[in-house]
This record gives sequence, structure tokens and C-alpha cells, in this order.
Amino acid sequence: MTATSNALSTHGAELDEIQRRRTFGIISHPDAGKTTLTEKLLLFGGAIQMAGAVKARKASRHATSDWMAIERDRGISVTSSVMKFEYNGYEINLLDTPGHQDFSEDTYRVLTAVDSAVMVIDSVKGVEPQTRKLMEVCRMRNTPIITFINKLDREGMAPLDILADIEENLQIECAPLTWPIGMGKRFKGSYNLYRKTLKLFTPGQERLGDDGELFDDLDNPRLDRLLGSQADELREDVALLEGAANPFDLPSYLKGNQTPVFFGSAVNNFGVGEMLEAFLEIAPAPQPRPAASRMVAPEEAGFSGFVFKIQANMDPAHRDRIAFMRICSGRFYRGMRLRHHRLGKEIVVANPIIFMAQDRALVDEAWPGDIVGIHNHGTIKIGDTFSDKEPLQFVGIPNFAPDYFRRVLLKSPLKAKQLQKGLIQLAEEGAVQLFRPVLGSAFILGAVGVLQFDVTMARLRDEYGVEAVYETVDYATARWVQCDDKQRLTAFEKANQANLAVDAEGNLAYLAASEWWLNYVGEQWPEIIFLKTREIQ
Ligand code: G4P
Repeated sequence: MTATSNALSTHGAELDEIQRRRTFGIISHPDAGKTTLTEKLLLFGGAIQMAGAVKARKASRHATSDWMAIERDRGISVTSSVMKFEYNGYEINLLDTPGHQDFSEDTYRVLTAVDSAVMVIDSVKGVEPQTRKLMEVCRMRNTPIITFINKLDREGMAPLDILADIEENLQIECAPLTWPIGMGKRFKGSYNLYRKTLKLFTPGQERLGDDGELFDDLDNPRLDRLLGSQADELREDVALLEGAANPFDLPSYLKGNQTPVFFGSAVNNFGVGEMLEAFLEIAPAPQPRPAASRMVAPEEAGFSGFVFKIQANMDPAHRDRIAFMRICSGRFYRGMRLRHHRLGKEIVVANPIIFMAQDRALVDEAWPGDIVGIHNHGTIKIGDTFSDKEPLQFVGIPNFAPDYFRRVLLKSPLKAKQLQKGLIQLAEEGAVQLFRPVLGSAFILGAVGVLQFDVTMARLRDEYGVEAVYETVDYATARWVQCDDKQRLTAFEKANQANLAVDAEGNLAYLAASEWWLNYVGEQWPEIIFLKTREIQ
């Protein structure tokens, strides 16, 4: 598919608005340093004044009960879902990819709304499971990734081993752009391999905008005075890298095949500014996006956007929900008339919201790459497309096969209707996935993070007046099932009724007790396709 030229309108000013936007997410395993890095980036952008602001939010999120309170308490979790800040003339949208207990499908889906990602790796631990999962999602769209190896102030893996670990476990080529000098107690700083500058590390000292000292000749004796015996180690490392490391290749990075790598220490603000500047230089501006009918380019005059996240209870007094829309093309302005294509209705966006690090505000104008919040009274679903004229449906916003399952049992059978209504709405919002078993009547909920179950239960009670309890079920994974051969599919359905369920949109899914069992069934039924993700229709 190519962008159609008839719809293109590249006015200079608009192009600037697009070109100066960067929309990205940070992927990492819990505790690698995502919150700390986010905070440093926001400090650079002047979006927060004080270290500790983002951390405080994270701390209060730790306990589940607090998390629920915060959900109702507005402001905090909402405004932090998208953090917009400016730096050096760029408009940066940092989309939060929640980790820890609040890990959910949102975490995955946010990555469908970004143009690139920053991956944080703990130098002590190397590649960890959640990084691997998130990386799989990035790979679905070949999202370009910059890597930040964190915590060099601690004794960790040798830098070359970390690169090998990433290459092997994440199947992506590494191109180091900076190189650390020692680690832990011997951590002296880093050498920027493309600028040929040395930055010295002063523990505990937070420094902004330090460009380092130029050393285009590493034989310069001043290096020995600064680094002592570690000067020779650096010389050897750099000589080795010149021969053995992959040179940075912009097209490879943009295709998601290569990741440029920076080393640093987020908590000491070391290496963060360097990475941010490289990010602004190489990370892609808003990219074209596939719709069912064609590719949509950000420069097009016609407005379009899609919803990737719905946040409930923004305002408890109004039971209000906010749909987060990523703008894909054209200019957005307040009071705009938009077509909601799935429902074939027009809406006027009277009070669109833009999200800043610690605040949210009404937005007058927004551009491709920006995220706009629109008020939603239960009619907007994840994956919905809005545009001003042409009917479009953006594709590639998936449901992910859940890893956790619960059966829902009602405390009062009289509430069956409310339960069904609530569960269908919550499933449409993406809060949880809903399955009706082919045999049996109780609903089964699926989630990629267990906190989704607590949230669903609390919302059923508060918003729908339904008291329910969960029962554990013996499923560990699910796959959507497809088969071109109708007869085989019928035979499969007959033979596997006890494991089959229908999701909220009527798609058939197979629920398995283990990966091993799933593989076994797959081998028995080679004509059946088992899908790990399913596009939201
Ligand atoms: P996360 O969002 O990825 O889960 O990680 P977060 O930033 O919260 O960092 C996890 C822990 O790692 C925090 O310690 C944080 O201070 C620490 N950390 C982050 N960057 C660095 C670094 O460059 N070097 C070292 N040594 N530690 C780092 P904590 O004890 O959990 O919290 P706190 O008490 O320090 O706030």
C-alpha cells in the first residue's frame, strides 16, 4: 500500500508541526528504571520541576487498594498516561506503558500508538521476561527502538555480554553509540563513539546539558590523567568495537532491525541527555498508518485518528470515560465535527483534553502524533476510527491472548442482566476480555495482568451495582481459532467443546490448561490456525 497522493497537502507550517513531533513509549521490565528515566526526561523538558514527582505517583500505585483509590481520585493516573513535554523545539509525547501489577492489555496497546520506543535494560539483570513480551509487540509493527542500559553505577554484566544478551534474546542487532568506562565502584563515565567526547561520572550529582570533553585522539595523555589505568581499557574497548561492533545504520534502526545503544545511570542523570538528543535526531516523526482501504499519511489535509485506550471514572461524579485518540493525519481543533465510523454518527468534540506531565487541559489544536482525550459516554470502543470526511478504519489494534483466567459467579442471580451489560461494556473498553464457554453458562474473564480482575470487580460493583465473586479456572492460555475448511472446523468444535469459548465479538477461542497442551492440540489439528493476537474489528 502507498499513501494516495490525491489527498496530500503538505503546507510548510503543517509539515513543521508534524516533523517536530515525537511520540514514543518506554519499554522495560519492572525495576529496570523506567520511572526514573521518565522523570529525568520530564525534568529536561521542564515538564516537572522537581525530582520525585513521578516516583511519588509510582509509590502510591504500589498497593492495589491505593491504585483503585487513585483511579477514582482522578488526576494522577490519568494525566500520567500521556506525558507531553517540549524540548529544543520538539513536541514530545511520552506514552506510559504501565508495568508492575497494573500490567494489562493497555500496556501492549499503547505501543500501537507510538512511532518509536526506548528500551531500558538493567545492566545487572540483562534482558528480562517483560521486556521480551513488550519487544514482541514492538516487532508486530517494526517499531524502531533505542536502548538505554541503566545502572552502570552498579556491578553488572560486562557491556559486551549485555549486547550479546540483547542480540540473542531479543533478536535485534545492537549498535553501541556510547561506551561505558568501568562499572560499579570503578564507573568513571562514558565515551561517545560518534561525537568522540568523554563524559566523566560524578556519583550522586545530577547534571543537565553536559556535552563532555572532545577526545578525537584517544592517545591524548590527558585521558590517562583523567582515567588512570582505565584509559588503556577504554582504548582497547574502542579499538575492539571499531573492528567488531555493528556501525549505526539509520535505515536499519527505522525498520526495527537494529537498536542504537546508550549506557548510563538514570538515577544519576548520567547519559540521559545524550540519549534524548540522539532520540530527537533519529527517532521517526509521526508515521503513515494502515487503514483497511489504504495507507494514511500524516501530512494529509483530512483529519483522522483512532482510539487505543479508554480510561474510566475520570470524573466519578459523572461516570465519565475518556477515550484516548492518537491523531494520524490532519489538524485537530476544538469544536471539530468528527465521524464515528463504526456507529455512522457525527460527534462534536467540544471539550478535548491534552495531557501534560502533571496536568490536563483543554486543547485548542493538535497535530499528528498528539494524543487527544475525548469524553465518552460508553459509545466509543478501542480501535474506533474518527475522521472528518472519508470513511476510514485503522487496522492493527490487537487483542492479546490472555494469560490469566477467572470464572465470574454472581452473588445474586437477579443481577444477571446487569452483569452481562457491565462485562460487555468493560470488555469493549479493553478493561478485561470476556469469554462465554460453549458448554456452561458462567462467563470467563481473561486478562494479561491480574490487576485487571480487581479493577473489573470493583467497577462491576461501583458502576453496575453487581456483586460478583471469582472462581479460579484451570486455563493458562488462550488462542483464537480459525480454519478455512468448514468441515474440519466443525469436527474440531465437536471434539473440543469443553475448551471452546466465544469472545465478546463472537470469535471462537480455544482455552488451554497449558502451553504444552495447546501445542499438543495444534499437532493433532494441523489445519486449525491458533492466533495469539486478534485484530479489534
Ligand atoms: P521501574 O519504573 O522500571 O520499575 O524502575 P524505577 O525507575 O522505579 O527504578 C527501580 C529502582 O532502581 C529504584 O530503586 C531506582 O532508584 C533504582 N534505579 C534507577 N536507576 C538507577 C541507576 O542508574 N542506578 C541505580 N543504582 N539504581 C537505579 P528503589 O530502591 O526501588 O527506589 P528508590 O527508593 O531508590 O526510589
